[in-house]
Amino acid sequence: MNFEKIAKQLANPSGKFGEEVASGMNTMNQFISETTYELLQIKNSESILEIGLGNGKFTKDILNYGSNIYYTGVDISKTMIAEAKKLNHNLIKKGYVDLIHADIEQMPFWDETFDKVCTINTVYFLKAPLNAFKEVFRVLANKGIFIISYRPFIEGQTLNFTQYGFREYSSEDLESLILKSDFRIIEKIEKVEPEIKFNGQIYNLKSQYFLLQKTTAINVYKK
Ligand SMILES: C[S@@+](CC[C@H](N)C(=O)[O-])C[C@H]1O[C@@H](n2cnc3c(N)ncnc32)[C@H](O)[C@@H]1O
Repeated sequence: MNFEKIAKQLANPSGKFGEEVASGMNTMNQFISETTYELLQIKNSESILEIGLGNGKFTKDILNYGSNIYYTGVDISKTMIAEAKKLNHNLIKKGYVDLIHADIEQMPFWDETFDKVCTINTVYFLKAPLNAFKEVFRVLANKGIFIISYRPFIEGQTLNFTQYGFREYSSEDLESLILKSDFRIIEKIEKVEPEIKFNGQIYNLKSQYFLLQKTTAINVYKK
């Protein structure tokens, strides 16, 4: 397996090979995506932003968590936004879904636009994660929820891509990074995922979910 080539595609899928890699991501990441959407506890009429949505295969699912949910997906990959638009054209036409090519560090939204934000398996690629978190803080409504979902670095669960600009975080590393941001950590949840079979290999993975809240009140417990 050419890890360098795949690592580049995971960070920013492009062209035909990017589409294939995205379809593999759908298999590998269905559980982590569904779990994240459940943890968001979406209510009717909420405005949700997903950053780094990939090909948008799971976009339709998020709309089933309530009525009149308005979903915006952002991705740095033009190929992924084009694919996601194809897969979700009906929902876009009906006005429930909007898909935009943008970088998490600079998103074309007004302040406090979204009730809830999530990002799944993207933290590894963020060049300046604190700038990215600051931008999410800006576009999130006060008391809004932000979930960062990822597979932590655990002994035996290495993703083999680290030497190619793919930064793996241990739970402690990511927590101390988040504590430097303006977000308050509500909860950190760990899940043992169901076994995944992919490309002739079996994966037993653990994923983790940081549930964060935007609060403009002073956080006296902040380290
Ligand atoms: C490994 S894929 C994960 C896709 C999907 N969330 C999943 O879990 O299957 C990472 C995605 O994040 C996007 N991405 C990486 N860096 C980004 C950035 N700075 N801003 C927005 N999207 C980004 C990539 O283009 C890619 O689609």
